[in-house]
Amino acid sequence: MKDEELIRLADEARKNAYAPYSGYTVGAALLASDGSVTVGCNVENASYGATVCAERVAFSRAVADGKHEFLAIAVVGGRCGQPAETRFHPCGICRQVMREFCRDEFRVLVGNGEEIVCHTLGELLPAGFSSDAMKETRP
Ligand code: THU
Repeated sequence: MKDEELIRLADEARKNAYAPYSGYTVGAALLASDGSVTVGCNVENASYGATVCAERVAFSRAVADGKHEFLAIAVVGGRCGQPAETRFHPCGICRQVMREFCRDEFRVLVGNGEEIVCHTLGELLPAGFSSDAMKETRP
């Protein structure tokens, strides 16, 4: 799938964002290695800490569908009713959730219809914590 198409699907999902408190809407489109795409949007809550980001909604939905291997995610965010902002990048908690399922090469696309920037997860979360750190190392 082309990067432009994945960004377009994220932009579509952003329209469903539930963000009455921040007024900031985010959409995500997660490409699995089987070629399927799972979308997510941010879902806020009156108890602010219960808010879930668009990326984590997409990952949770995909995992619930039995998918565990992923190639790329497109994420777009901006003020409600405004075009997506090029300076948007995934938050730290979402980077950590990506790390749970994805290797350094996993591609993270940000931007909008006019400009797309591609990062790798390795760039966005260098020296991150993962289950590797908990593997038994003693003989
Ligand atoms: N948000 C996301 O959906 N993804 C991110 O990576 C950063 C922040 C949402 C959470 C909240 O609903 C709004 O953006 C403002 O923080």
